[in-house]
Amino acid sequence: MAAPLLLLLLLCAWLAVPSVPGLLSLQPADLLLWDGVAHFSRGDWYGARSRLLGSLQSLREVRGAKLRCGAQCGLGGARVEEAVLHRAECLRACERLELGEPSRYRLTQEMERSFHKATPYNYLQIIHYKLEELDEAASAAFTFYLRNPHHEQIKDDVQRYRTMRGVSKQSFRDLEEPQHMVLYSRAVSLLSEEKLGPAVWRLEESLALYLSALEECRSLCEGTRERENEEHRDISEVIAEYYIQVLQCKQRCVLEDSLRLGQKRSREDMIISHLALLEQGYTKLENWEAAAQIGQSLLLFYPHNETVQRRLSEYKQKLHGQSGGKPREIIATYVHQSLLEKRLLYYAMENLGISFQDPDLWTPEEIIPESLRETVRLGREAEEQRGGDLPYEEVTVTMTPKQMNGTTRVTMDGVISKEECEALLSLAKEAAGSGERVKGRRSPHTPHERIQSLSVLQALQMASSGTVDSSQAHLLYHTSERARVLAEFYFGTKRLHFSYTHLVCRTAIEGKQEGRTDFSHPVHADNCVLDTEEKECWREPPAYVHRDYSGLLYLNEDFQGGNAFFTEMDGTTITAELRPSCGRLVLFSSGGENAHGVRPVTEGKRCAVALWFTESAEHAEQERSQARALMRDRDGPQESTEEETTKNIRESGRSGRSGRETTTAGEDTTSDPERPSGRTQKKRPARKFTDEL
Ligand SMILES: *[C@@H]1O[C@H](CO)[C@@H](O)[C@H](O)[C@H]1NC(C)=O
Ligand SMILES: *[C@@H]1O[C@H](CO)[C@@H](O)[C@H](O)[C@H]1NC(C)=O
Repeated sequence: MAAPLLLLLLLCAWLAVPSVPGLLSLQPADLLLWDGVAHFSRGDWYGARSRLLGSLQSLREVRGAKLRCGAQCGLGGARVEEAVLHRAECLRACERLELGEPSRYRLTQEMERSFHKATPYNYLQIIHYKLEELDEAASAAFTFYLRNPHHEQIKDDVQRYRTMRGVSKQSFRDLEEPQHMVLYSRAVSLLSEEKLGPAVWRLEESLALYLSALEECRSLCEGTRERENEEHRDISEVIAEYYIQVLQCKQRCVLEDSLRLGQKRSREDMIISHLALLEQGYTKLENWEAAAQIGQSLLLFYPHNETVQRRLSEYKQKLHGQSGGKPREIIATYVHQSLLEKRLLYYAMENLGISFQDPDLWTPEEIIPESLRETVRLGREAEEQRGGDLPYEEVTVTMTPKQMNGTTRVTMDGVISKEECEALLSLAKEAAGSGERVKGRRSPHTPHERIQSLSVLQALQMASSGTVDSSQAHLLYHTSERARVLAEFYFGTKRLHFSYTHLVCRTAIEGKQEGRTDFSHPVHADNCVLDTEEKECWREPPAYVHRDYSGLLYLNEDFQGGNAFFTEMDGTTITAELRPSCGRLVLFSSGGENAHGVRPVTEGKRCAVALWFTESAEHAEQERSQARALMRDRDGPQESTEEETTKNIRESGRSGRSGRETTTAGEDTTSDPERPSGRTQKKRPARKFTDEL
């Protein structure tokens, strides 16, 4: 049959499949979630529970249907285009049969993200609690907590469940934990107890499960993608673009476990971890043949690893000269396939200018085109310094420690929005105008500037007495919390406590700027006394020796001068200089390694939130707990908060379907920054149930 005719026939067959009700009786997951939230806000706990559980179930079933169809529809056919069309036709028919109208079950990226973050569990924990199902409540809360470790409210809730009677230790389990993780953890502890047989047995099972989960994830990459722009382009370009997206998606599957849990990627590749443990186990069991097989499999990832090679020759001796086995076929296939994909992606990177971040550490240098090696290496280094995905989506690291010519200093942008900067500036202004303690005074550092300071507690107290806008005062509180979470996350510290936080503005005094040679803030370090002669920093009073990390969140840029800079301990050699701007946060360790100062502000007013943190709980400031108490008073009874925030979830959820910008537009975050907008809601860890949609 002539190819064009064949194409036509296939197309007709494809279009002619009627839309029939599918086998799947469940509603789409997003509809069920919204519906569940609606019932939730009416206090209909039973109705909400069944719908929210239904949304999770629906998600699983759609996934199952897609996997079944993917497996059923091979890539048969003699020619490429024939094969592709065959598969398309088969998939379409299969999915129609399974799902009825497959497009109904398509989720927006936003929705996918909120399911990824396990949002339904945050509702479920409350529902279970209301229905006095404490065990379920605790496990739902724990499940949500694992995926949202920076969510203040859920942290508190999990703590509360821990102290409740009737909640056992076993209640704190991850309801979405993949089976391979369960087995793997079990195997690790068995191995440490030298229970080798059972350990190895579980490892084998867990490895098999992991490989099949990986394969599932990879095969789901072939679903529909959201199209970006619809300009006219060459067909091969379109196909290439789609194909590249699929390959990138498949490659990312190895990150799935850490992505799911919102962690930094810390672990070595799961397959390699399995193999390393299995080799240990088999060696101890003196099963040399199996050990050799595992060693060979490890060599697939690191062909030049001498340790592995040496061990392989030991096994060979034990086996009396027999080399003992080949690598496992399933692993060889995986490595082969993955390398093929990487080659294509690097090719596209070199020739089509796409970007590709290789998630694997084992990728051999040989497959990276020479012209890219340096770029890739630098990219990896930078990625390491950036510290992976930050807990707030809008925040990005714009200067890594290396770019800032230091070790423990970093610059992030987008920490708060333009509206939030303005709200805080207006707070500073109102407070200064109120004639209370915080009125501007002559700067202690220079006769050319006035300085004005407002602590978080002062702001909240003034809000209670009606002197300043309370939503702005609360914003100051939440903003400082956000900076704390970022410092903790980025530097990987222990829990950080507040040492002191205030909003500070420096204003140039007009007519007093001629021939100025001093600084707005002379060079100093935050937790030690800087000795520029000795190039030392003495960690002793009167310095605040207990401070460990410092932060400066800038609110504006409409002033002259006022750049921040870091120096060597000599106090004069400048190593980095930066311009303040709205939403820019500089975080650094508080010692002499980060001596810093501020250039003179020669015109206008420069405002920033200055923050100091300590790792020592004993040095946590009293003010913060007083401030927290004031915040809590305001939060009032739980019910009303729930109601308000649920409404917001529903609104932003709806917008998720039609494009998220719709809710943010016109929403006045200045007058009520507490109300989550599409943009800010994810960032505010202290809020309830508002974060994820
Ligand atoms: C070689 O493999 C061993 C164990 O499998 C590992 O500990 C070591 O870091 C590897 N060496 C290199 C250079 O990759
Ligand atoms: C770091 O040092 C380099 C070279 O001296 C300089 O160009 C760069 O601006 C410095 N970084 C910052 C943030 O000032």
